[in-house]
Parts: sequence; C-alpha cells; structure tokens
Amino acid sequence: MNNATPLLAPSILSADFGRLRAHCQEAIEAGADWLHVDVMDGHFVPNITIGPLIVRALQTLKDETGALLDVHLMIEQPDRYLKDFADAGADILTVHIEACPHLHRTIHAIKDLGLKAGITLNPATSLLSIEEILPYVDLVLIMSVNPGFGGQKFIPSTTDKIRRLRNSLNALHLTPYLQVDGGVTAQNARMLINAGANVLVAGSAVFGDPNPVQKNVEYLKRVMSGA
Ligand code: DX5
Ligand code: ZN
Repeated sequence: MNNATPLLAPSILSADFGRLRAHCQEAIEAGADWLHVDVMDGHFVPNITIGPLIVRALQTLKDETGALLDVHLMIEQPDRYLKDFADAGADILTVHIEACPHLHRTIHAIKDLGLKAGITLNPATSLLSIEEILPYVDLVLIMSVNPGFGGQKFIPSTTDKIRRLRNSLNALHLTPYLQVDGGVTAQNARMLINAGANVLVAGSAVFGDPNPVQKNVEYLKRVMSGA
C-alpha cells in the first residue's frame, strides 16, 4: 500500500457551497480521488458545519465519477449518526478516538453498515492509544492541525508521527490507508508521502487558493507522485 499511487482527498470545507457539486466535480475531473467531508458539531470541536444532507447531495456525483465520499466525523457520540451517514451515501466513516469510549464497538458498527472504518487522532493524542484497534481499521487519519477549521498551519511534528506509524504498520504487516489532514500544501505534500502517508486531505490548497481548482489539483497530484 505504501508504494501505491498516493490519493488526494480535497476537503469540501473550503469549497464554494453555493456551487458545491460543480466545484467538487472540477476537482474530480482534474484528478482528485476522494471527497473529504468535514462534519463538526460545535461540541467536540468549536465549529459547526454540515450533516448527512450534504453527503446525500454529493451522492450522484460519487455514482457518476467513482470518487469515494470520505466522511470525517468531528462529533461527540458518533454512534448515534453512523446509519444516517451510511444511508446518505458515505463510503468511509472516520471517528475520533477522543470521542469514542467504546471504539471497538464503534468501528464494528461502521463495518456492519458495509462501510470502510477509519480512526483519527488529534495532534496531542499518542499513537499508543490506537495499538489495540489497528488490526480492525481500514484507515488511520493523523491530524496535522487541531480540528475545527480549514486553513490552519501544519504542525511540523506530524511528519515524525506519520513515520512512526508507518514503521509500526510495516512491522505488523497491516495496510490501512494512512491519511493526513490539516495544512497540507504542495510544499509539504511530498515530504508527507515520503514519511509514509498515502492519502492527503487538502482544503484551502485545492479550493481556497486563488488559482483554478483544476490547476491546484493537477499540481498537488504531480508533486505527490514525485514528478
Ligand atoms: C480540520 C479539517 C480539515 C480541514 C483541512 O478540522 O478536518 O479537513 O478542512 O483544511 P486545510 O487543508 O485548509 O487545512
Ligand atoms: Zn478533515
């Protein structure tokens, strides 16, 4: 998995919600692989964003293009909403370890819905805390900013955390996606891939940059592939 072509998952948080579908379509046509949907509840994180309705609004685009809907749940008690997001068309549901006292149950509830199950850790949460759940997950998301807002600065110590996680996964012969989210740009993308990440989330670098989305995606993908 580490050697597979790295994937780009633009975060729709920085997209233009007035023309969300068209904006996302531009990104996919330019080579984006997944759409990253940031769900925030105003409790687990200070911001409130979107819910299953927006995931549903992107479902036909997913069906037409094959771009997976990668839903990042920054919410307390995510178990209450897993089915709603599954029904809305989510393909991947990622929950925060800090919000899940019964993580094993939550991960299996996601899988029982037929979806890929991801876990994520805040910057200050140790990799040791995911040791027991690693064999059961399809994706590990390393947060490289404190979640809550797009457009924040990348926390440099994340790179070493990714490297350490990649080494552990290799030692355990496990191949979940290793995703990184927050402050990803064309300047740090290659470094993150080299450290062992294989899915990069980028919001402002795709939708918030003054250049056209198509240019931003093509540039990021080129950098990610090492070209
Ligand atoms: C942060 C979100 C991120 C964010 C990424 O809480 O989980 O997905 O939108 O945005 P950028 O790439 O602008 O840091
Ligand atoms: Zn996110």
